[in-house]
Formats: sequence, structure tokens, C-alpha cells
Amino acid sequence: MSTLLKIMLLGCLSISAFAEEAKLENIQVATDKPALARGAEDWMNNCHTCHTMKYVKYSDLLSLGIDKAKVDGWRGEASVDTPLIAQMSDADAMATFARVPPDLSLMAQARDGGPNYMYSYLIGYYLKPDGTTGNHIFPETKMPDPLGISSVAGAAQRTEMQNTAKSITSFLTWAADPHTTDRTRLGYYVIGYLIVLSGLLYVVKKQIWSRLK
Ligand code: HEC
Repeated sequence: MSTLLKIMLLGCLSISAFAEEAKLENIQVATDKPALARGAEDWMNNCHTCHTMKYVKYSDLLSLGIDKAKVDGWRGEASVDTPLIAQMSDADAMATFARVPPDLSLMAQARDGGPNYMYSYLIGYYLKPDGTTGNHIFPETKMPDPLGISSVAGAAQRTEMQNTAKSITSFLTWAADPHTTDRTRLGYYVIGYLIVLSGLLYVVKKQIWSRLK
């Protein structure tokens, strides 16, 4: 094979590798409490059967402003300090999927692409010609299409599911780093402090230099 041909082939391969990466959708996750509460609720309804979030407790759901009666309904006899444990046992999951669904507490940060990966994976299901489902982002995944997006009836329903996927992704992103808001506030304090400190140092410097002149 001529060198030129090899170079051209390599070029095509790297372009297709880029195309692979470019498939992730870009989303802006919500950070306000009402949106996070909605996401938590969507998560309870669509994901909690199979997935655990061991670092999120029922009390965290209350702190997002979810109705106490609703949270009480979900936790049943468990105390508010119990983490969200999957309803399906590990043994049943092994028997059904040949693997235990991973803990989702930190998952929104665990994969390359973060929230964009999470969202793209959830909406990445499609119907194959043979009637089974595939996934554009994680082709060999053992997870069955949780939102049912591979069998949507029309554009409106698809948009609705994309919104659900987005709100779940927002909740999972918050769960993976619930202190972002606190840290942003601390950042402003630190910057304000540095500005005041710079002003004071400037005044002190001027005084010292005026004495030296
Ligand atoms: C019927 C059970 C079931 C439900 C419901 C379910 N999952 Fe999964 N999930 C799985 C299984 C099984 C895996 C392991 C997939 C694999 O490794 O092939 C998995 C894996 C994942 C992963 C990890 C993917 C990776 O890159 O390794 C994420 C993220 C995820 N699920 C998110 C969700 C979200 C969000 C929901 C709710 C919208 C959800 N799942 C609902 C069974 C489920």
C-alpha cells in the first residue's frame, strides 16, 4: 500500500474517532431546587427499581423541597436517614442482567463527558430492524431502555422524554456534587476579600513610599 494511501486511511480513522466523541449531546443542567426536586421524583419513578444511590438519603429529598407525604410514601418503614437502596436485589439483577446495576451517587461525574454522557446515554436508545433496542452511546449495554425513548410515538413525546432525561441528569449531577452552590458562594467571598486586601495593601504601600521620598 502506498504511503499516501496509508496516511489517507489513518486520516479517515481519526475522523471517525472524532465523530464517535461528537455524538454526546451538550446540555445545561438545572441547579434550582424545584428542577432538582422534579429530577429526584423522575429518578424515583424510573431508575430506583434497579439502581442504588448510597450517598443520597431520604432526608436529602426533603431538603430539595419534595412533599413530606411523598417521601414518606417512598421510604415506608425506613428512617429518613436511610440511603436510597435499589428495590431489586443484587441476586435478582444478576439473574436478569448478568450484572448488578451500578450505584448512581457519583455516576454523573464518573464517566468522560459527565452530565452530557448521562443524558446522551439515556436518550441514546433506538429500535433496530430486528425489533431489539440498541444504544448509540453504549452499544453493548445490558440496561433496558428505562424511559422507553426507543418506542416514542412522535416529536412531542420525544421532547417530553428528553426533558425527563434532562431533569434526571440534573438531579444526578447535583447528587454527585451537592456542595457546588456553597462553593460558588465561598468563591465570591474569597474574591471580595482579595479585592479589599489589595486596596489596603495599595494604601499602605503609598504611605511607606511617601515617607521614603
Ligand atoms: C430494569 C433495570 C434498570 C433500570 C430501571 C435502570 N437501569 Fe441503569 N443500569 C441497569 C443495568 C443492568 C446497568 C448495567 C449496564 C451494563 O453495564 O451493561 C445499568 C447501568 C447504568 C449506568 C452506567 C452506564 C455506564 O457507563 O456504565 C447509568 C448511568 C444508568 N444505568 C443510569 C440509569 C438511569 C438514570 C435510570 C433511570 C432513568 C436507569 N439507569 C434505570 C439497569 C437499570
